[in-house]
Amino acid sequence: MIRRLRNLLVLLLIAVAAYFAWVYRPVSPEPWSDDDKAVLQSLWIGSLPPLPANPSNAVANDAEAAIMGNRLFFDTRMSANGEVSCASCHQPDLEFTDGLQKGRGIGESKRNTRSIVGVAYSPWLYWDGRRDSLWSQALSPLEDSNEHGSNRMHVARFVTTEATYREMYEVLFGLAPDFSDESRFPVAAAPVEDADLADAWASMNDADRKIVNRVFSNIGKTIAAFERTVLPQRTRFDAYVDAVLDGDEEQQSALFSKDEILGLQLFIGIARCTECHNGPLLSNHEFHNTGILAFPGELPDRGRINGVREVLENEFVCLGEYSDDPARRCAELSYVRTGPELIGATRTPSLRNLARTSPYMHKGQLATLAEVLEHYNRAPEAMIGHNEAEALNLSPPQLKRLEAFLQTLAAPSAR
Ligand code: HEC
Ligand code: HEC
Repeated sequence: MIRRLRNLLVLLLIAVAAYFAWVYRPVSPEPWSDDDKAVLQSLWIGSLPPLPANPSNAVANDAEAAIMGNRLFFDTRMSANGEVSCASCHQPDLEFTDGLQKGRGIGESKRNTRSIVGVAYSPWLYWDGRRDSLWSQALSPLEDSNEHGSNRMHVARFVTTEATYREMYEVLFGLAPDFSDESRFPVAAAPVEDADLADAWASMNDADRKIVNRVFSNIGKTIAAFERTVLPQRTRFDAYVDAVLDGDEEQQSALFSKDEILGLQLFIGIARCTECHNGPLLSNHEFHNTGILAFPGELPDRGRINGVREVLENEFVCLGEYSDDPARRCAELSYVRTGPELIGATRTPSLRNLARTSPYMHKGQLATLAEVLEHYNRAPEAMIGHNEAEALNLSPPQLKRLEAFLQTLAAPSAR
């Protein structure tokens, strides 16, 4: 009896040992096939096309506009308390994020701050794509009661009266309107939730409201011109792909460890990350439900399904009257897609520079890359809608290799 038990125990130990020996066995990377090389090249920074045109913004590529936008981006004087600028939440040293779960300005933002590095390549803005251009996006934090907490009347008056901005504005857009008559142009006014601001806005006549909207949208256009200059930098991953494409094996092993190569093979292979994180920014700019759980006590985020509705209601869109494109070219908005698969879907983020953009996901739910990979490995049921990602069931060493690869996407700080 005891002998039998002992034998069983020995067998069990051998099985466990065999399992661990298999999971933790040393593995060597496979050589890159031609198909693999094509995928690597598609992810490489050298494949980044020129910036897409933005015909709704006449100053999108104007250097003077970018200088003005750059100043405005760091200027706290447009905010309700004089302390918040775009850069309060989009800090250059943190790849233009803030290291917080949710942004913090006058109050707390509803979501995690996204990086603006390379954002000019995206047809949609925000996690839920509720804006269709960079200039239109730039207007909304200014009036968000949790962010700048300001109003378009104050912003338009400030920029057209402060001497330096007025001069820059007039070079770009011609004579600035005169807002000194407070019976026509109240001190504070905007079509927002706050009743006083909304009443003041409603009290203005339509033509005056349009004058303010025009200046407000021009301000957004200068900020967008600046954001178009914030581009991703070359990473160790890009140098490695150079070496692969050149067939330089010595360089390849100098640049990437065995684990990093294995991680990259998982990333484009069985881990299926490139189904969504593809192209040179490692994002398809599309909306997907990946089953990220809400914080306990918070409602799950409805994501893109609400974003579609909001963008169609927005007045500062490429089809609207503040667009500079007489032809109103904007395929995205004209053919915007909706459907139940967009419930709980958010826009795929770029994976460049993950090292400085934690915490991750749309509410900053996951603190580390290990937690992110654990999430994909288990692929829990989505709280609303359907989780598109399937459980990966990778082993702990495989997850470590994947993480090692993700770290190679870190670049020197963007300018
Ligand atoms: C209080 C913090 C805060 C301030 C101030 C702020 N932002 Fe943001 N920003 C956020 C958050 C949070 C998001 C994501 C919100 C969402 O998707 O719902 C975001 C998103 C963005 C995006 C979209 C990025 C993408 O990939 O979709 C851009 C661009 C941006 N902000 C630019 C600006 C500009 C320009 C200003 C100043 C006019 C500004 N932000 C002010 C917190 C802030
Ligand atoms: C079905 C599309 C899809 C697949 C497949 C996918 N992702 Fe994602 N990924 C997303 C979306 C969408 C988000 C944003 C989720 C959210 O916060 O709502 C995201 C977020 C992330 C983030 C957080 C980035 C940030 O700045 O917050 C990381 C890291 C990440 N994914 C890595 C991976 C890796 C590694 C894989 C492969 C194991 C993978 N993803 C597979 C779509 C996908």
